[in-house]
Amino acid sequence: MLNPMQLQGRKILVTGASSGIGRETAVLISKLGAKVILVARREEQLLETLHQLAGEGHAYFCYDLQDVQGIEGFVKNLIEVHGALDGFVHSAGITDIRPISLTKMDDLHKIMVVNFYSFIELCRCLTRKKNFQKNGSIVAVSSIAAQQGAKSKLAYSASKAALDGAVRCIAIELAAKKVRVNTIALSRIHTDMNIAMNIVVGEESFQENVLNRQYLGLGEPGDAATMIAYLLSDAAKFITGATIPVDGGRLSS
Ligand SMILES: NC(=O)c1ccc[n+]([C@@H]2O[C@H](COP(=O)([O-])OP(=O)(O)OC[C@H]3O[C@@H](n4cnc5c(N)ncnc54)[C@H](OP(=O)(O)O)[C@@H]3O)[C@@H](O)[C@H]2O)c1
Repeated sequence: MLNPMQLQGRKILVTGASSGIGRETAVLISKLGAKVILVARREEQLLETLHQLAGEGHAYFCYDLQDVQGIEGFVKNLIEVHGALDGFVHSAGITDIRPISLTKMDDLHKIMVVNFYSFIELCRCLTRKKNFQKNGSIVAVSSIAAQQGAKSKLAYSASKAALDGAVRCIAIELAAKKVRVNTIALSRIHTDMNIAMNIVVGEESFQENVLNRQYLGLGEPGDAATMIAYLLSDAAKFITGATIPVDGGRLSS
C-alpha cells in the first residue's frame, strides 16, 4: 500500500526522547519503519520509550546536552557504533518564566545551550562527511513563542527564534548535500512542559492567554509528531529552510 510518509530503513536520532513530543515522535517514526536512536538524560524514561517502539534495532544514549563541548566525542562514538544517519530531530528543550529584571546571563546561557547551541553543535558534527546520508532531513522543535511576545518568556522565545533563523541558513548550506532542515512552530501541547508552565502562570491565565486564542484547543504530542514524521519523509522533499506552524490556529488569532 502506498505510504508517502514511510521511513523504512532510515536511521534517525531523536533528542528529548524520554518524554512528551520526543517520545511520541520516536514511537511514530518507528511505526513508519525507522530505526531510532533515543537521547536524553533520564535512563528509566528512555527505556520506557524504547519499550514502546515498533520493530527492532533501536538504541538509546543518556546524554546531558548542557555538556555542549562533549557533543563532538558523543557523535563520533554514536556514528562508529551505528553508522551514518538519515535523520535528526531536536526535541530536547527547557523553558523558563523570568522577567527581564531577573534575567541574568547564566539564566540566558542555560536555556540557549539546550535549546539552541546543542542543536547547532549536533548539526555541525552529524552533517560531516560520511555521518549523514544524502536525502537526509533535520527537524528542530521550535515554538510560536519565537514569533509572538509573552511576558517573562524572553529567554525561551529568543532561543526558539535563534533556531528558526539558523535553519534558514543551514538549509542553504546543506542543500548541496541534499539534506533538508526545518523547524516546527508549536503552540501549547499537552506534555510535562505544558503542565509545569500552567502551574507557574495559573489556570486562569492559561485559559485567557492561550486557549482562547488557540481555537482548536490544547494540542496532543501526536499532532507535533505527525508533522515531524512528514518532514523527515520524502513526502516533504521540496520543503527546506521553513518554519511550519502546528498551532491550533494560534498565530492567526
Ligand atoms: N509542550 C508545549 O506546549 C511546547 C510548545 C512549544 C514548543 N515545545 C517544545 O517541544 C520540545 C519538547 O518539549 P515537551 O513539551 O515534549 O516537554 P518535555 O516532556 O518536558 O520534554 C523535554 C525533553 O527535553 C529533554 N531535555 C531537557 N534538558 C535536557 C538536557 N540537558 N540534555 C538532554 N535532554 C534534555 C528531556 O529529557 P531528560 O529530562 O530526560 O533529559 C525531555 O525528554 C521542547 O523543545 C519544547 O520547547 C513544547
